[in-house]
Order: sequence, then structure tokens, then C-alpha cells
Amino acid sequence: KKKINIAIDGPAAAGKSTISRRVAKRMAYIYIDTGAMYRAVTLHAIRNGRGVIDQLDDLDIRFGTDGTSIYLNGEDVSADIRSQEVTNNVSEISSLAEVRQYLVSMQRKIAEDKGVVMDGRDIGTTVLPEAELKVYMKASPEIRAKRRLKEEKERGIDIDLKTLTDQIIRRDDLDMNREISPLVKAHDAVLLDTSHMSIPEVEEKIIRMAEDLL
Ligand code: C5P
Repeated sequence: KKKINIAIDGPAAAGKSTISRRVAKRMAYIYIDTGAMYRAVTLHAIRNGRGVIDQLDDLDIRFGTDGTSIYLNGEDVSADIRSQEVTNNVSEISSLAEVRQYLVSMQRKIAEDKGVVMDGRDIGTTVLPEAELKVYMKASPEIRAKRRLKEEKERGIDIDLKTLTDQIIRRDDLDMNREISPLVKAHDAVLLDTSHMSIPEVEEKIIRMAEDLL
């Protein structure tokens, strides 16, 4: 049976991971959260100092079989990578050439055999420029901050809407203006403004586009 790769890009908290996970499940594909990989490297640098960026080949980053957990040198860091400290430092670490080179090559290897839904910032432009389906998800900063606030509350994290909005805007600004593979819509990506769409609506739309390609 024919398999394709699906690239989902967009700014922070646009709903990429929620949607990508659902699409992957429906299609029995593998879901890869590349943001989690950048977060894991950031956590490693926070814990062990910037020097570790020069020794990334020693690093062991793996996803759990459930597709949501991530392991750093054997330790489950799925919760730790979502901390405020990691969130506030990840864009800076992600802008480093060594970090991008290392993770992009890992990501390409994972997608080699197709059947992957990968989300991030540069999947359609840099990681998988040959992906059969590319989606660029967007939503207004206000809506994204409100959605993220709900998620953070559910995780028991106390943060206000203003702080979250500022954080999202700052992270987008850094991600869109960095030198190496900045966040930008690939010319052949389908633009999906999810501001006024429900999760099942977005999911359905992507599934239909994917099925047309099979
Ligand atoms: O997707 P998430 O918001 O968890 O990503 C965290 C950060 O990782 C982004 O703000 C960005 O700096 C970086 N990132 C990246 N390229 C990707 C995925 C994430 O630079 N493909």
C-alpha cells in the first residue's frame, strides 16, 4: 500500500501536535514531534551547560512507542521539556547550526520509509521538501494563547493569558527571523487558518487531502 509523508508547520501553539497526532492515528502512521527534539536538546544544555552543544553525537534522543513520550539518554523527559525554562530558551538553542544539523539528519532518517506525520517549523521547507502533503497551520496569537492557557491549566500550571501571549509572540519572532531555516510557509504548503475551526474539522480536512494522494 502506498505511503506518503505529511509535513505540518506553523507558529507556536497553532494546534500542530494535537492535529498531527490525530491524523497519524487515523492513518496508522508514525507521529514525530520535532519541537520535542529541540526541547530535549535545550533541556540537556540547561542541565549540563552550553558546551554540550559541541558533543551532540553522544546524545541519545528517542521517542517512546506511544508516540508522546521522549527519552533523553534513557530518561523519560516528556514532562521536563514542557517547563517554562525550556520554553523560554528553546528558540535560542534551535537557532544554532550544530543543533539543527544534528536533528534534521535524525528527522530525515526517521521519515525515510514514509508513513510519517512530522510537525515543526521547517519540515516542509528543509527537513522533508519532497513530502507529498504539506500543511501550514495558522491562527491568531490571541486564539493560540487561549488554547495554550487551557492546556497549561489542565497540566496544573499556573500562568496568565498575558504572559502566554507575550511568550508566544516572542518565540514566533525568534523562529521567523533566525538565519537558518526560519519559520516560513513552504510555497507548496496548503495554508490552514484554524482560528475558527474545531479540532475534528482540521483533522478531517487534512485526512481528505491525504486520501486524495493515495
Ligand atoms: O513545537 P514546539 O513549540 O514544541 O517547538 C519548540 C521550539 O523548537 C520552537 O519554538 C522552535 O524554536 C524550535 N523548533 C524548530 N524547528 C522545528 C521544531 C521546533 O526550530 N522543526
